[in-house]
Amino acid sequence: MSTFAQSNYAAHNYKNFRPVYPPQFYEYLKKHFVSKPNLAIDLGCGTGQATFELANLAESVVGVDNSATMIDQARASSHPDNVSFRVGNDRTFADGVSPDSVDLITVAEAAHWFDLAPFYKTAHEILRKDGILAIWGYCDQTIQEYPAVSDITEKYSYHPDYLGKFWDQGRDRLHHFYSDDKIPDTLFRDVEYRFNSSKELSPQEKLEISKQMTFKEFMDYFRTYSAYHTWLAARGGSEEDIFDRMQREIMDRTGLKLESTITVKWNTVYMFGRK
Ligand SMILES: C[S@@+](CC[C@H](N)C(=O)[O-])C[C@H]1O[C@@H](n2cnc3c(N)ncnc32)[C@H](O)[C@@H]1O
Repeated sequence: MSTFAQSNYAAHNYKNFRPVYPPQFYEYLKKHFVSKPNLAIDLGCGTGQATFELANLAESVVGVDNSATMIDQARASSHPDNVSFRVGNDRTFADGVSPDSVDLITVAEAAHWFDLAPFYKTAHEILRKDGILAIWGYCDQTIQEYPAVSDITEKYSYHPDYLGKFWDQGRDRLHHFYSDDKIPDTLFRDVEYRFNSSKELSPQEKLEISKQMTFKEFMDYFRTYSAYHTWLAARGGSEEDIFDRMQREIMDRTGLKLESTITVKWNTVYMFGRK
């Protein structure tokens, strides 16, 4: 069972402290549609970060996630009538869905957990001709005003003496931006694979994710990491909270206070493919 699917995972914190995706990105996605999507599936929908936005782009949207905790939180948020949610995963999401019947499949910040080769095949099967598969993600944020803080957050997030060994299998894929698991151009047409760091892309083509938050909220964001929940379960009784240590190290280095306002930017990747 993935960490997000455990019943004690704090899905409300996920909803509050994770970033959302900018309107420009959905505008760019929309340019790929041959007509308004009738049916969209948002797989790995979490608490609905992308699902609710897709409600403006498609006639109906189904958010699917393998965590009942996330789905309960998503259902509890007020949402438009054309959005529904169900529990499912990358192996079952197409059960009961007819071949060639879906116009858009999105996966935001979740495909690294999937068994990607069979997922790509299934997605291709249920998409209509010209339907779009869109996968995107973000990781490894920087504080714009204090870029040097990234060395500290990188150490706590990935070094084996810190959270490094507590990530579920698959997280590395996101860390390496799916370089070995791209949407296959043997199945899909017009494949795009892009980073926000690419100099040659126009601002409209980039997925730029940034969020103004207090330093305290920034620390709360780290506590939504699945690896942190695994660390908490394995932690020795007297061991100091790993992110309390990180917080102190950052404050000592920068003079930041919990109430200081900062701008956080994430590295991003997206991949689109057309059936
Ligand atoms: C980091 S969250 C992303 C949530 C949301 N899409 C977003 O953009 O913030 C990853 C989500 O993928 C879900 N997930 C993990 N493995 C999955 C799988 N095999 N099939 C479907 N969902 C999965 C988790 O339960 C979690 O809600």
